[in-house]
Amino acid sequence: MDLRKVLNGHRSIRKYKPDPIDPALVEQVCYEAIAGASSSGNLNSFSLVLTRDIERKQRLYELHSQQDFILEAPLLITFCADWFRTREWLRVRGARDNFNNLVGYHVAAYDAMIVAQNVCLGFEARGLGICYMGTTIFSMGEIAEFLELPDTCLPVTTIVAGYPDEDPPKRDRLPLRGLVHDETYHRPTVDELDDIYAERDVRGWDRYMSNPWLKKMAEEEGITSLAQFYTSRIKYDPDFFAENSAQLRTVLEEKHFLP
Ligand SMILES: Cc1cc2nc3c(=O)[nH]c(=O)nc-3n(C[C@H](O)[C@H](O)[C@H](O)COP(=O)(O)O)c2cc1C
Repeated sequence: MDLRKVLNGHRSIRKYKPDPIDPALVEQVCYEAIAGASSSGNLNSFSLVLTRDIERKQRLYELHSQQDFILEAPLLITFCADWFRTREWLRVRGARDNFNNLVGYHVAAYDAMIVAQNVCLGFEARGLGICYMGTTIFSMGEIAEFLELPDTCLPVTTIVAGYPDEDPPKRDRLPLRGLVHDETYHRPTVDELDDIYAERDVRGWDRYMSNPWLKKMAEEEGITSLAQFYTSRIKYDPDFFAENSAQLRTVLEEKHFLP
């Protein structure tokens, strides 16, 4: 399929048919995604862990904040920043050790994310649907333990994939003028912010408030705008982020990405 068509047709899918994905197709998508992904030093510092088993999916469902479609979708892929394999190779070849540091984590995380997005495009080009699971970073340590990830190997993102059982509308993005800068960073004025967020403020708010449960919670919390909603206790709670950041630091230390 034309790449432009794939990109323009993208929507995250949150309802799936139970039909399994042919393992040969999964392998082909992974193969092409990896072959088509730039990779720092071509060290391929990532690993993909596939989960299809229903009982194992059930545990990941719990670790991913019980997002229903995890149980529906036939496949979950956890993309890991992985230096373990490389470091073993260095060790058995008598080379100096490296990458058990913060730079290593960043490099491997970027490699893993690039492959993840290629895998998504590969599935979408074949008419399948995907959704990223941001909850991966909230349960990083527990997911690492459940998937038996070794030292200097951590999950950075997860996707679900499967055959769509919904046809959601395409979601807007902020306009290009707010996202793309010419030569140097342009700090938006208040008027420019109003312009950049004009449509989002209305459409995003309407979308969340069309959910009676969210609407009730927003009213109880005295939330009157999309911006307030985003950093409220309902969405991206700053207290939770602070707590989770501390946990993240501990996990990075335990896996020797931080001293
Ligand atoms: C890193 C990342 C994490 C995400 N995590 C979740 C998630 O946990 N649950 C979910 O329903 N959608 C998740 N999404 C999907 C976003 O909500 C979605 O991409 C965004 O609302 C735009 O919608 P679209 O993908 O349909 O264009 C995530 C997306 C990204 C890139």
